[in-house]
Amino acid sequence: MTIAAIANRAPVIPVLVIDDIDSAVPLANALVRGGLPVLEVTLRTPAALAAIKRMADSCPDAIIGAGTIRNGEDITACRKAGAAFGVSPGAPASLLAALAGDVAENGDWPFLPGCATASEAMLLSDFGYEMLKFFPAEQSGGAAMLKSLAGPLPDIHFCPTGGIGAHNAADYLTLPNVRCVGGSWVAPAKMVAAKDWDGITKLAAEASKLNAR
Ligand code: 3PG
Repeated sequence: MTIAAIANRAPVIPVLVIDDIDSAVPLANALVRGGLPVLEVTLRTPAALAAIKRMADSCPDAIIGAGTIRNGEDITACRKAGAAFGVSPGAPASLLAALAGDVAENGDWPFLPGCATASEAMLLSDFGYEMLKFFPAEQSGGAAMLKSLAGPLPDIHFCPTGGIGAHNAADYLTLPNVRCVGGSWVAPAKMVAAKDWDGITKLAAEASKLNAR
């Protein structure tokens, strides 16, 4: 599956921070039930890799990705855990080299590298990345910035993330160069801690009704 095909599966990719490994599968199931099958588990907690493995093993209807990938070790560990794709907040040369080395050795792995400027987007496009994470979206100029990039760089598509919620997701999703958005608002830390799976399914159901252009 290409990263574009993954991005086309749903308008919103929940960005997940998982502290309690036992919450991983019920959280994934709650989001899938609500209509959001593509999930990004960030590598920000000690439980993240085990959570990716459990979700990938136990949630056949979900597409589990790994976020906050920073180096070759992260790539290797996430692929081993079963992550179907990877995401990074940026794209330093060291990470791009590690990705190229990994793909040469182990075959393709859909990847969403991060960028926040026209130069970064152009560089990543030249490297062959068809879809980019625009991060941190709101702080980097928001929907207005992406609208401005659509003129000169119409072939570069984005998944903006950072500061996006139910209040502004549609501003991004109506843009021609946005396929989907990412965000943590569909799985708030408090609701995850309270194991409010029905509440999270409701948030996901609302988000899944947002229409990408
Ligand atoms: C990310 O890692 O993509 C962001 O931290 C998610 O941003 P949000 O919490 O503002 O949605």
